[in-house]
This record gives sequence, structure tokens and C-alpha cells, in this order.
Amino acid sequence: MKWLIGNLKMNLINSQEREDYLKLFKKEKKGKRLKNVEIILCPSFTHLESFANYFKGEEIKIGAQNLFWEKSGSFTGEVSPETLKSLGASAVIVGHSERRKYFQETDKMINLKIKAAIKTGISPIFCVGENAKEKEADLAAKVIAKQVMAGLEGIPRSQLGNIIFAYEPVWAIGTGLTPCSNEILSAKLLIRKMLVNKFGLKYAQAPKIIYGGSVNFKIADQVCMASEMDGALVGGESLSPHSFLKIAEVLDN
Ligand code: PGA
Repeated sequence: MKWLIGNLKMNLINSQEREDYLKLFKKEKKGKRLKNVEIILCPSFTHLESFANYFKGEEIKIGAQNLFWEKSGSFTGEVSPETLKSLGASAVIVGHSERRKYFQETDKMINLKIKAAIKTGISPIFCVGENAKEKEADLAAKVIAKQVMAGLEGIPRSQLGNIIFAYEPVWAIGTGLTPCSNEILSAKLLIRKMLVNKFGLKYAQAPKIIYGGSVNFKIADQVCMASEMDGALVGGESLSPHSFLKIAEVLDN
């Protein structure tokens, strides 16, 4: 089974755009039978409930793009994991590079968010990856290892299977640049090795490891299949249901 996750980011900026997207998605999906692909669409918080209702009873799952780690209380502007769950989210993106960069999210905060998601029964999609400067300095492996270890601090190994790891080199996000299959495979092997060291071989096999960064249907084969990844986290191309579902078809083969 492959996982295809659409990160819609801060788009579909009013209810009309949302409705147009949903209708188009259903139209494009009609008649396409995906046997080996699980789709998760992650719209902004305000669209979660509409998305969940629209796809009720269908194979499409819904995820959020962020969460807070407390259940409730005086945290102005934040959204509780319980709220996400009650609105129909079964997954949540955590530690996306845009949140690390623009909202100063630290490894510690990301760890708290992963724990809160797991506790609420929501699968964290845990993003890790080096930026251009770190890549230049040959620090990719070090950065990924640090992010993985810090993010997993205190997570019981029995919960590992609920986490989806997304290797997203920051320099490949929204840029049209992509690593070669070997680079992606190396990152996957590194993540798996960290998991084996920390949790033991049996538990380390459980989580999915997917790739994200400028994925489109033309390169889906190279960045997912040839790199032995379990799927893709897609930003820009998820805004076009047609292009997004073409990626699904590549992953389904
Ligand atoms: P992109 O975004 O596909 O537009 O590069 C990926 C992401 O930010 O998760």
C-alpha cells in the first residue's frame, strides 16, 4: 500500500473555491479505482469539516496541517487535537519546514505535537529534511538524524506504527528541484537505521516513510517507486485534482 498526501497549504481561500475544488476532485476521481493507494487530503483548519463531510463513506481521508499539544484552555488562536478529531481528521502534518521556518517551531515543540496527535488517535505525518545550506555543507544526514531523534523523544515503540515519516528536503519544496533516487533512498535508510537503533528491528519496520518536495506525476515514479518510498507528500500539485490523481495512478502501479 502507498500513501498519497495532499498538503493544500493556505489555499482555497473562500467557500466558493473550496466547493469548486471538492466538486472537481470528485469528478476526476470518478471511475478511477485505486487498489494500492491511500489518499489523505489536508486542507486548512476551516475547511476540515466540509472536506470530511464531502468524502464521508469514501476512501479519501482527511488530515490537518498543524495542531497544538494541549487538549483545551487559554491558548488563543491554537487548535486542539480533540477538535481536529471531532471534525474528521485522521492525520496531521507535523514539523513541516514552513512551520519550522516561519513560525519558529522547534524540535521540542514538534515532539510535543507528535505525542499529542498519537494520544488523540491521529496519525502524525512527521516532516524532516535538510535545507540548501545544510546540503551544501554535507550536513544532510546529521540534520535528519537530529530531527528524527528529537521528534521521537519519549514515544513508546508500540506507537511507532502510527507515524508516517515524510522526508522533505527543504530545497526541493516548491522549487521544482528534486533529489536523485539514490539520495532519497539514502535518507530513507538513514531514518530506518535511526529507528532500528532506538526501537529495535521489529518495531522499526512499522512506520511508512514517504517523500515530499516538488512531486508531480512525471517524477512520481522516480521519487517514490525507484526510491522505494511508501508514497508522497504533495503540495503544489495537490491543488489540481487532475494532476494529483495522476500521481495516485503512478503510485497505484
Ligand atoms: P511542493 O510542497 O510539492 O509544492 O514542493 C511539498 C510540501 O510542502 O509538503
